[in-house]
Amino acid sequence: MKFYPTVNILGNEKKELLKCLKSKNWSTFKGALGKKDYKKVLSLNSISAGKLKDLEIRFLGGKYVRKLESDVSKKLKVNFCISANSATSCLHMALASINVGPGDEVLVPSMSFNSTATSILYVNAIPKFVEVKKDTFCIDPEDIKKKITKNTKAIIVVHLGGNASDMDEIMKISKKFDIPVIEDAAQAPGCKYKNKYLGTIGDIGILSLTETKNITSGEGGLLLTNNVNYAKRSRLVRNHGEGIILDNLKKKDYENIIGMNYRLTEIQAVIAIEQFSNLKKVNSLRKKNSDYLIKGLKNLNKILIPQKIEKNTEYYPYILKFLWKGDHIIKKKNLLKELNSIGIPFTGGYGRMMHENPIFSKLIAYKNGCPYFCSKNKKISKIYGSNTLPISENLNINFLWFKFIHPPNKKRQMDFIISNFNKILKKYNFEN
Ligand SMILES: Cc1ncc(COP(=O)(O)O)c(C=O)c1O
Repeated sequence: MKFYPTVNILGNEKKELLKCLKSKNWSTFKGALGKKDYKKVLSLNSISAGKLKDLEIRFLGGKYVRKLESDVSKKLKVNFCISANSATSCLHMALASINVGPGDEVLVPSMSFNSTATSILYVNAIPKFVEVKKDTFCIDPEDIKKKITKNTKAIIVVHLGGNASDMDEIMKISKKFDIPVIEDAAQAPGCKYKNKYLGTIGDIGILSLTETKNITSGEGGLLLTNNVNYAKRSRLVRNHGEGIILDNLKKKDYENIIGMNYRLTEIQAVIAIEQFSNLKKVNSLRKKNSDYLIKGLKNLNKILIPQKIEKNTEYYPYILKFLWKGDHIIKKKNLLKELNSIGIPFTGGYGRMMHENPIFSKLIAYKNGCPYFCSKNKKISKIYGSNTLPISENLNINFLWFKFIHPPNKKRQMDFIISNFNKILKKYNFEN
């Protein structure tokens, strides 16, 4: 049985790409603002920026970049969408725009992709890892409360696999302690919580356009915010902001920008526009396949337990995550071997949890113990490494993941899995 890869042409990518190639405007970003009023330019909302003439304000990018940002901000109902070359860059832009720095702590679940936490090191702050809820696999608000200190300057939540974090509880904590929330919605484009798009509920949200995601431009990321100051600072970080030498930039809020080159090209933006306009369609097909598969495997629901979806969530799956509780019938490792040998691409969980990565467990991110021992954090007790997050570690050991729910995979592929899963278990004398 053939399982198809994620990347798909969904709309007019070819035609639009050709137009862009012929225009020879492949980036058109410029790092300088010239004599333009920087405050006005940086605070233009994405819809207004999308209406600028082609090469009018090149600090904000080319026409396709601005169209992408305008389309996303309209659809997701958020004032600013700021594209970048990856979601990792967006996480960095988000933290830098909140002004998180040396000695600050950022709360983050370990149950995520590495860059959710390594981005915190880019601003010389330190991650403090938080447990996830046992059934939804998303950050546990109760553990957030336990881990807040006077040094906590941001909370990053991850909407794992398309499932929403418990945003009501998280936003209550954020308000009470006055700590901004960054939503890592890399795996949840188009998903909603209480009718709001994930990534637009906290202070800043990020989406990924890398090629494993629901929609892609090869690489790319989108930062979402309604906060004009975060938008200004993010735009500066994205585009060599430290190079702007106008006198009026001395204002305190914009002085400490270390500008990068995180710009998305026009070529990528063209693809992203087409993909984004087909997001709903793609997400619905993912949901159809995943519902069908979960229903087809329902007879195994005591040993193969799907991720519980947070209430009030409009969920579109990224990777289907199950917990395997059938080691008494067949060990997870052997089950994976059996499935893989007949071409069914199930995998285990994360190869290594983030808090077990030596850059954390050995405190070796930069030389001389930085950022762990920078400024305020003279002492750091054993907060990283195995056995510090028992709930997350135990989940990861028992995970069975399945990725190929995207089109053009369909019922045929799902049926193949359902029948073979049952055949394998029958061989090991499993009875319902
Ligand atoms: C939860 C999460 N955050 C961040 C990222 C990073 O995205 P990108 O590869 O676009 O930098 C990923 C990508 O896999 C992810 O799954």
